[in-house]
Amino acid sequence: MSVEHGLAASRRWLVTGGLGFIGSHFIRIALAEDPELEIVNLDALTYAGNLMNLRDVECSSRYRFVRGDISDPAAVKAAIDPGVSAIVNFAAESHVDRSLIDAEPFKKTNVTGVRVLLEAAIAARVARFLQVSTDEVYGDAVTGELSEESPLSPSNPYSASKAEGEALVQEYRRDRGVPVLVTRGSNTYGPYQYPEKLIPLCITNLIDNESVPLYGDGMQVRDWLHAEDHARGILHVLGSGVSGNAYNLAGGNSCTNLEIAHRLLGACGRSPLTHLRHVSDRPNHDRRYAMSGAKAHALGWRPRIPFDTGLSETVEWYKSNEEWWRRIKRGEFTAYWERQYGARFEERA
Ligand code: NAD
Ligand code: TYD
Repeated sequence: MSVEHGLAASRRWLVTGGLGFIGSHFIRIALAEDPELEIVNLDALTYAGNLMNLRDVECSSRYRFVRGDISDPAAVKAAIDPGVSAIVNFAAESHVDRSLIDAEPFKKTNVTGVRVLLEAAIAARVARFLQVSTDEVYGDAVTGELSEESPLSPSNPYSASKAEGEALVQEYRRDRGVPVLVTRGSNTYGPYQYPEKLIPLCITNLIDNESVPLYGDGMQVRDWLHAEDHARGILHVLGSGVSGNAYNLAGGNSCTNLEIAHRLLGACGRSPLTHLRHVSDRPNHDRRYAMSGAKAHALGWRPRIPFDTGLSETVEWYKSNEEWWRRIKRGEFTAYWERQYGARFEERA
């Protein structure tokens, strides 16, 4: 059975980390675009997972949430329905600053978890295993744009763990014949992003009349990709990517952190004189990320959302969804959801 045939024959996927930022956009878009598709979402509901992110699909008969850890083989086995044709792995510890404080959870989820999922992919004979990775695995791009052939040179525990996850994926392709794909997305922004990351942190601080903390001189360059474009890029690679390949999903919106801060200050009606503060730099902070998106463009994917539109809609979303982020910022979020929904979702799992 060919990979394409296998994928088409069963419209049942295991998605992991689907209650996080990008995974929730992916599940919403995938279910909307394919009326035959069924998704099981395996998510450990760490501090970054949030049931509210998929409120609009949780009652769908084509969606099932299972609470569990991807590094736990029994949990993964229990989440794999018969006939599953693809595994799409979003689950990760995703924040660089946290990895600098404690790298252990990063190793457990981003490395051990990937191995457990790859073993499950072999047992289930899936037609596709897609590992969601990041532009951060390349490390600093001193000049030009990096291609998929550029060496990986990660420089912090987060990016090192993602690179190690990729190495495992390639090992399982070579040694065990798993039909794998890798996507390397740029810095992503949009609704439902946990407010520890630069853009939602700035917006929510500015709404509250607080300042935005810029690391060092703020001249670090990042390339920005809207979460919906990122999700569509992953769907595209899943459907059309050539097994064994990695694909850069570049946003085409390179800009310094200082520029981002200024745009957001403007959108929130605050002045840089009063609401911008330079703080100590992140240790070993990568200066610049820049990737060529040509390989994914050749598959037929391109980001659709202009940066200006995406950024102003994101500001509006945070202004209109204070309930979503205020709970997180108050720090009662995890406990709240455990209390409200823990038992109910354990039962469903
Ligand atoms: P996120 O932190 O918002 O969400 C991560 C999700 O994974 C959460 O729902 C969490 O509960 C779940 N999770 C964590 N550990 C788990 C475990 N052991 N088992 C099961 N579930 C677990 O992350 P995100 O920003 O949506 O990133 C998703 C993926 O995309 C990650 O693999 C990340 O490396 C990659 N990526 C992110 C960006 C970005 O800018 N955010 C850019 C490129 C690539
Ligand atoms: P972040 O959103 O943490 O994503 P990543 O580290 O995965 O790229 O950071 C984006 C950029 O913004 C990065 O160069 C670090 C910088 N930054 C700040 O200047 N201040 C902040 O408070 C944060 C969270 C990030």
